[in-house]
Amino acid sequence: MALIENAKSAGTGPQVSRVDATAADSLSVTVSEEYQVAQARQVCRTLALKLGFSRSDVCCIETSVSELATNLLSHTRQGGILFFREIKVPSPGIEITSFDEGPGIDDISLAMRDGYSTNGGLGCGLPGVKRLMDDFEIRSQKGTATVIVAVKRKRCR
Ligand SMILES: Nc1ncnc2c1ncn2[C@@H]1O[C@H](COP(=O)(O)OP(=O)(O)O)[C@@H](O)[C@H]1O
Ligand SMILES: [Mg+2]
Repeated sequence: MALIENAKSAGTGPQVSRVDATAADSLSVTVSEEYQVAQARQVCRTLALKLGFSRSDVCCIETSVSELATNLLSHTRQGGILFFREIKVPSPGIEITSFDEGPGIDDISLAMRDGYSTNGGLGCGLPGVKRLMDDFEIRSQKGTATVIVAVKRKRCR
């Protein structure tokens, strides 16, 4: 679970901070209160615009952040942390990482099914993020941690 170890060692720091442990030049936003969902959206939006994403891609990225942040609030007790960073290889883009030390996801393929929710939600969040972004990966250990990484790549114009 290198991904989980890396995310852990990146620490939780201040609410919006620069993390330089493993994810060089990542921005991070702690999400344990509702207002931090909007804060996370704003931080990611600013980075995505700075990186030159189109308005419609920025919209996809922001929506994904919203879904991941909302999941931290609704499916964990303590919340978690979102990391945002520019990536250059294999092609330019933005990477969003969600990390929490909550209950974990029992069955990832079930959680990825449209309409599946363990708390009466719409069950569209995770499959939606997968559709909106270009790369999507979940790693989870029951009772330990969940790490979700989603990448949007810049389109060639
Ligand atoms: N960070 C998380 N920790 C634990 N379980 C999660 C997390 N994020 C999502 N899940 C699980 O995956 C399911 C599907 O998530 P999602 O598609 O966003 O639907 P919803 O949030 O409406 O339930 C959730 O119901 C929950 O069981
Ligand atoms: Mg959700």
